[in-house]
Amino acid sequence: MVTKIVEKEINEQIKREEHSSRIYLAMASWAEREGFPGASNWLYVQTEEERIHMLKLVHYLNDRGGTAVIPSLDAPAAKFKSLLDVFLQVLKHEEYISESINNLYAVCIKEKDFTSANYLQWYITEQIEEERTVRNILDQIKLTGTEKGGLFLMDKEFAAMAVAKRAALAQSGGANAVT
Ligand SMILES: [Fe+2]
Ligand SMILES: [Fe+2]
Repeated sequence: MVTKIVEKEINEQIKREEHSSRIYLAMASWAEREGFPGASNWLYVQTEEERIHMLKLVHYLNDRGGTAVIPSLDAPAAKFKSLLDVFLQVLKHEEYISESINNLYAVCIKEKDFTSANYLQWYITEQIEEERTVRNILDQIKLTGTEKGGLFLMDKEFAAMAVAKRAALAQSGGANAVT
């Protein structure tokens, strides 16, 4: 059984993960319209991944005798200046999510809910990977510059990364991988 405080905080994280999914969906749609099919694909897969992060927490909370609340959400930003702008925002958002998970972990420890803290280890590890991936992408975009030829090649790179990411997501078993 989770305490009311842990239940409330996990519900906040459910909201944040779902919001992440929608932020990336808006970015994917933007990239699709702007002629970056590879980056768009990558962001669409990222959207699915965040939805799975949300679903895992829904299952976890319900399994532990809490009640998962399905939240209403604000509309995400829909306009971006460039691909670099998009991924700078992705990194900023992922850093914010990492911080929120660390705070949630601290609440679980304070509440002596070591089961939830243990469960959250998966998210802590996931955030290391998320931040590293986005930093690598940003490095590549910066190297590419703003020339069309470079961006075209970068988008090809994105297309390959999206295929690998989708395969890894399918292999992980989706929302049922960690319950
Ligand atoms: Fe996430
Ligand atoms: Fe994420």
